Amino acid sequence: MDYLPIEWLGNRVKILDQTRLPREEVYLELSHYQDIASAIVELKIRGAPAIGVTGAYAIALGALEIESSSKDDFMEKLRQVCQTIAGTRPTARNLFHTIERMERLAEAGKDVGQIKTALVQEAVRIHSEEAEATTKLSRLGAELIQDGFAILTHCNTGPLATIGYGTALGVIRQAKEQGKNIRVFATETRPLLQGARLTAWELRKADIPVTLITDSMAGYFISRGEIDCVIVGADRIAANGDTANKIGTYTLAVLAKENGIPFYVAAPTTTIDLSLASGEEIPIEQRSPEEVTHIQGVSIAPEGVEAANPAFDVTPHGYITAIITERGIIREPYGEGWGN
Ligand code: MRU
Repeated sequence: MDYLPIEWLGNRVKILDQTRLPREEVYLELSHYQDIASAIVELKIRGAPAIGVTGAYAIALGALEIESSSKDDFMEKLRQVCQTIAGTRPTARNLFHTIERMERLAEAGKDVGQIKTALVQEAVRIHSEEAEATTKLSRLGAELIQDGFAILTHCNTGPLATIGYGTALGVIRQAKEQGKNIRVFATETRPLLQGARLTAWELRKADIPVTLITDSMAGYFISRGEIDCVIVGADRIAANGDTANKIGTYTLAVLAKENGIPFYVAAPTTTIDLSLASGEEIPIEQRSPEEVTHIQGVSIAPEGVEAANPAFDVTPHGYITAIITERGIIREPYGEGWGN
C-alpha cells in the first residue's frame, strides 16, 4: 500500500485524514490524546479495528504526558485518559478491548516509568496483532469467494478501517491476489459516504473493478441475480452472533436471505463481545442529524427539518451465513466461548 492510515512516531501519531479523501491526501500529526480523541469522533480515522489501534496510541501518549512519580496518582490520571477515549464512540468493541487491555497492563505495572514504557510497547503490539489478524482472516475468507464472483460490500473495511490488510475488503483483495476474476459493487454508504469516498478509492488503488451504487440500488442488483455474495465488516458481535455494523447492513442481510445468496461478516476476534448475550445489548451510536441534512457542508434538506442518524444497525445471527475471523470461519450455532 502507498498510504498509511496511522503511523507511530514515538511521541506522536501521523494519521491520514479520512474526511478529506478521496479528493485530498492530508496527513495530520497529533501528539495529545485529546486531539486523537477528537479525530476519532470526527471520523478522521474510523473503522472498528482502526479505532482500537488508534485508541491504544492515544492512551500511550496520554500516559507519557502524565507528570507524576506516584503510581496511585498516575493511575488516577491514566483512568481519566481512558475515560476520554472510551467517550469517543460507543459501538466498536475493539476500542473497549484496547482500553481494558491497556488498563490491566498499567494496573499490573511496578512503577510509573516502567508502566509508561510498557504502554507504548503494548500499543505497538496491538497495532501489529490487528494487522496480522486481518491478513489471516482475509486468507481464510478468500476461500469462500469463487472465480467470477460479483461481490457486494457496504461501508469501508479496507486498510483505512483496519490499519492492516482489511476485513471484508481484505477478503476481496486476497481473492484478487489469488488470481480470481472478481468484481465489486460498493454501496455509497450514506450519510458519510465511506463506500463512495473510501472503498472506491482503495479498490481503485488495488486495481479491483468496482461499480459504485447508491444504498437503495442493492435490492435491484441482488434481485436480478447480478450479485453472488455480500460481505461486510463488523463493529461489535454479540455471543449469539448478532452483529452490529454500518447502518444499512441489516437491509442487505435481509435482501441476501430473500434472494438466496450468502451474507458474510468478516472481523477480527477483538470485535467479538461475549459479555453480551444478543444484539439488543449493543450500544448504537447516534450521530448529529446534520450529517443527514448536509453532504460535506452543503444543505440538501429544508432548513430545520428533523432528521435521525443512527450510525449502526444490528443484523440478527440468523441472517449471517458465516463469520470470518483470524481463528476460522464460524457458522451457526455459535457455541460456548466461540471467538475466544
Ligand atoms: O462509522 P464508521 O466509518 O467507523 O463505520 C465503520 C463500519 O461500520 C465498518 O464496517 C466496521 O467498523 C468494520 S471496519 C473493518
